[in-house]
Amino acid sequence: MIEEQKHMRTVRSFVKRAGRTTEGQQKALEDVWPVMGLEVKNGPVVFSEVFGRDAPVVLEIGFGMGDSLLEMASREPDKNYIGIEVHTPGVGRLLSNANDEGLTNIRIYAEDAIEVLAKCIPDNSLDVVQLFFPDPWHKKRHHKRRIVQPDFAQNLRKKLKVGGYFHMATDWENYAEHMMDVMSAAEGYTNKMGEGQYSPQPEWRPVTKFQKRGERLGHGMWDLMFEKTE
Ligand SMILES: C[S@@+](CC[C@H](N)C(=O)[O-])C[C@H]1O[C@@H](n2cnc3c(N)ncnc32)[C@H](O)[C@@H]1O
Repeated sequence: MIEEQKHMRTVRSFVKRAGRTTEGQQKALEDVWPVMGLEVKNGPVVFSEVFGRDAPVVLEIGFGMGDSLLEMASREPDKNYIGIEVHTPGVGRLLSNANDEGLTNIRIYAEDAIEVLAKCIPDNSLDVVQLFFPDPWHKKRHHKRRIVQPDFAQNLRKKLKVGGYFHMATDWENYAEHMMDVMSAAEGYTNKMGEGQYSPQPEWRPVTKFQKRGERLGHGMWDLMFEKTE
């Protein structure tokens, strides 16, 4: 590949992990997707139309197997939840579980969150954005693949309402510090915990699959919450 083409390739925050899709997940991908699935090709989304009501909107990027999003949506029926994840078995699992529980407040994109934000989410429309245990890309040469970057912070800010906030959690100390540096320097945000401060895990944030993995490995945990102020 010539040098120029190499640089033109988009830097993505994920690699699609292999993973077996169970029969139940596959069935949900076929049967439930038409009800809960949203697609970038359909352009800007009108939340009041897709959910059939106006309610605060919480958007989660990279929900993995979806269990924490399911728990939050089930506990807070008065909020609308949008999940974004490219891992097909995880999408299937969340569709299947949400359908089994009869939840009507979840919609899902199975595409790159960067594209979903840019092409589908209206400006000033989100109350909360959640990013729990994003891929840490811990090797230095991979740090550019980390999703939390100055441009990302500003793209997200456009989508949040004033007073809305961005909630991150990670079990990688170096990524926590990177998040703190990027978000503290980002215009239009303030750290809800005070300058330079991490948050204890709030009781409303369920323990996620990757959090459990981090705990098994003896990692620490860091939550960060930044409010959009302007
Ligand atoms: C380390 S896993 C964490 C999953 C889950 N939040 C948890 O805590 O168990 C990160 C997830 O983010 C997804 N992801 C990363 N970048 C993404 C992007 N740009 N758009 C959608 N999903 C993304 C990956 O596919 C992966 O499933």
